[in-house]
Amino acid sequence: MSTIVINCKNSQLSNQADELAEALDYPILSAGLSLEVKQRMFDYELVVDHQGISLLPTNAKLHGAIRCDFSSAAHVHRRKHGGGNGQAIAKAIGVSGRFMPSVLDLTAGLGADGFVLASLGCSMTLIERNKVVHSLLRDGLERARQAAMTDTALGSIVERISLVGQDSKEFLESLSPGDRPDIVYIDPMFPERKKSAKVKKEMQAFHSIVGSDDDSADLLSLALDHAKYRVVVKRSVSAEALGNLTPSYSLTGRSTRFDVFALNRLPN
Ligand SMILES: C[S@@+](CC[C@H](N)C(=O)[O-])C[C@H]1O[C@@H](n2cnc3c(N)ncnc32)[C@H](O)[C@@H]1O
Repeated sequence: MSTIVINCKNSQLSNQADELAEALDYPILSAGLSLEVKQRMFDYELVVDHQGISLLPTNAKLHGAIRCDFSSAAHVHRRKHGGGNGQAIAKAIGVSGRFMPSVLDLTAGLGADGFVLASLGCSMTLIERNKVVHSLLRDGLERARQAAMTDTALGSIVERISLVGQDSKEFLESLSPGDRPDIVYIDPMFPERKKSAKVKKEMQAFHSIVGSDDDSADLLSLALDHAKYRVVVKRSVSAEALGNLTPSYSLTGRSTRFDVFALNRLPN
């Protein structure tokens, strides 16, 4: 298990850092601690500064910052040139000009997939149980809401996103029948490929914070009881079907596969 400390870089933000420390039950970095001692005591620091919250290894050589930034060049490029409703994720969900479903994303992570679907018009509810990841995502959404003052397109996307910090199994179990989402989306952590150079260092770090989602097959069986039209599971191309349940069909790309469990015909 990784050890984490909160590092407040600006005294004006100390209230925010205190709230984060209390919510996550992590210590605040003491002033004057040497780098050597910091590295011995902690694997990661959650840095609070004017750019928001970022997760950094205390050994800066390991990898760069992990943060949630919906205004980043990668997100802007995907939004503008990602292929719209022709993207595999959009086809799997069933988004079209006529149908912009409500989607319950049971495994929000840093919200990349949720943001793509919201940018295509879906109403997204994102659920994340890991408190560190939830804090990074909540911070990213807050900053996107602020940026929306000058970027109205971004504003209308984030308006379609709501975030819940909870285990999705509990969320589904307490869902009333009238609130069933059109589509349920699940993207559990891929099994860790320790020695693969293909796994980016940031992804390995994410793995060490979140662990592996060993209960994701249970999530799928619950999801099948709660979705109106479909459950969509994102897998790596070579992974076995989640819970060994056979999907209705799959959409396979270069590295990712979307397994679609069709429950009812989509409305026209
Ligand atoms: C692979 S990541 C999802 C990445 C996300 N699709 C994206 O585009 O950024 C999986 C995330 O699901 C979360 N997760 C797994 N099982 C969960 C559950 N039962 N309830 C809530 N969150 C869960 C993990 O904590 C992790 O952050």
